[in-house]
Amino acid sequence: MRTFWSRWCGWSRWTPVRRIFVGLAAFLALLFAMACGLLLREMYAADLITIQAVNTVTVGVKQGQNDAIGQNDLRVQRGAYLAKVGNCAACHTARGGAAFAGGKVISTPFGTVYTSNITPDAATGIGKWSADAFYRAMNEGRSADGHLLTPAFPYPNYTHVTRADSDDLYSYFMRGVAPVAQANKSHDLPFPFNTQLALAFWRSLFFEKAVENNANLDVKNTINIIAAQAVNTQASAPNEGLKRDNFDIQRGAYLVRGLGHCSACHAERNALGASVNNQFSDKLLGGALMPMRDWYAPSLVDPAEAGVAHLPRQDVVALLKTGIAPNASMLGPMAEVVAGSTQFWTDADLTATAAYLQSLPQAFAHDSTKNATKSTSSGKSKPVLFEKGAELFTQHCATCHGEQGQGMRVEGNVALPALAGNRAITLSNTTNLVRILLAGGYAPSTVGNPRPFGMPPFAHVLNDEDIAAVTTYIRSAWGNQADSVTAADVVRQRRGVMQ
Ligand code: HEC
Ligand code: HEC
Ligand code: HEC
Repeated sequence: MRTFWSRWCGWSRWTPVRRIFVGLAAFLALLFAMACGLLLREMYAADLITIQAVNTVTVGVKQGQNDAIGQNDLRVQRGAYLAKVGNCAACHTARGGAAFAGGKVISTPFGTVYTSNITPDAATGIGKWSADAFYRAMNEGRSADGHLLTPAFPYPNYTHVTRADSDDLYSYFMRGVAPVAQANKSHDLPFPFNTQLALAFWRSLFFEKAVENNANLDVKNTINIIAAQAVNTQASAPNEGLKRDNFDIQRGAYLVRGLGHCSACHAERNALGASVNNQFSDKLLGGALMPMRDWYAPSLVDPAEAGVAHLPRQDVVALLKTGIAPNASMLGPMAEVVAGSTQFWTDADLTATAAYLQSLPQAFAHDSTKNATKSTSSGKSKPVLFEKGAELFTQHCATCHGEQGQGMRVEGNVALPALAGNRAITLSNTTNLVRILLAGGYAPSTVGNPRPFGMPPFAHVLNDEDIAAVTTYIRSAWGNQADSVTAADVVRQRRGVMQ
């Protein structure tokens, strides 16, 4: 008997393959048990809350009727502003569709998700929702009937929004938005991602709802409600006890982490689509390749990428307000963020955002140091494609960007960003650079820059090696210092762009 046991259970005698297999099976069994427990817990919570939601369905409406009319309008106005700050329309208004009626396709690595109708239509939208139910969606990512929503809805950010701001948003969606009858489409997610169990599991690992806390602002998952109130008083008078700059930083943190949902793109994600750092951490802004979109959202805490600590504060404000600054312009998805959201932020809120971003400890991630050493070591000899790139630049680019990459001004305003000293050119991740050359693009059209010039697409004009040459050239001319780009890098991306 003893020999039997030691033969079959003697771990030390097992082949490595068998060990791995048994270990994996034990691990999966554990996961399964955990998931079952979680699901039970989540379902139970859902039941409790559903009751509340049903009971208060009419409360929001009644409250509205009792409000003084002026007060009412003010809430709707504040809500409209907050909806711009949160850029709800970017996802909830489909191209060519009615405002906020949903149905917009969001491709995720797990499958296709469709956004919901959030107009006040009673049958297909959120017309029957209470303010409580609306807040719960923002704060906890649950629908009115209690079911868990996918994190394609950025509630890991919106959980940072205060109840007061959520109520103002609610007022706007109930009274400032036209009801549209349009049924929600069901998501196109394969098993197991289409289950509540998967969402419950995901949430237990990566999501924690924020709580409002007036007293202790440093507790990690609390919302600073003093900073949040600034929007309600637009003039943003600093509250007692908070100095001006400190106040700005707190307000900026509230905006960036919450409604601004900057980390939704600028944070690295793990294989399960969650931000790699803690949801409440400022490290969330470390830069990431956007899933499915072939764009790189550079780090907001790295001065070699999109960190803004070293820039004059008014340049940061200008970049977010107009989409263009002397050495930078907003491209692709970021241009959409500026066009739909940040250009409408008040100057006070943009200044606060800039103050917060500038207050963050700077991290030199993404081998920018490696990059620097590489370029100094290769500094003596010019890259192989340099001469060819220079020729192509004069021929195709210099008329707009200037022979010295100095950009262009029209009537004193920056019309075209300089390519010299422009971090979008020298980023170690060349995704955006190759992409804009292939596909072209526009800076966002904003009040501050109403008719942006366009960058023509070169996919049909230049072949892969030409594109590699000209990007290599602009990455090492006029004092720019970055690695060469190869034709292979271009080939990979051309496929994505041509689709
Ligand atoms: C990045 C895209 C995105 C943005 C930005 C966004 N949403 Fe959504 N939202 C979604 C998706 C996707 C869903 C559907 C989630 C699901 O069904 O699991 C959703 C669902 C919702 C729901 C739940 C609807 C229901 O019937 O259950 C509400 C409420 C909502 N969003 C409100 C807002 C508000 C308010 C804003 C702006 C402050 C906003 N959303 C911004 C993507 C977005
Ligand atoms: C939808 C995804 C997305 C969201 C949301 C987003 N960004 Fe970006 N951002 C990007 C991408 C992609 C780039 C790189 C393209 C570019 O340089 O414009 C970028 C670039 C930037 C840059 C650098 C511009 C330059 O060239 O120097 C800054 C600064 C920035 N974002 C700030 C923000 C802030 C602040 C927020 C939140 C209010 C935010 N972003 C939200 C995708 C996003
Ligand atoms: C017709 C004028 C025009 C020509 C020709 C042109 N560009 Fe551009 N380029 C622009 C404009 C306008 C922008 C700003 C677009 C934006 O912000 O989305 C731009 C943006 C860029 C950017 C991104 C800059 C940033 O700050 O993010 C790069 C890189 C670039 N161009 C490189 C080139 C190269 C290389 C060529 C030649 C192969 C070229 N351009 C030819 C007008 C032009």
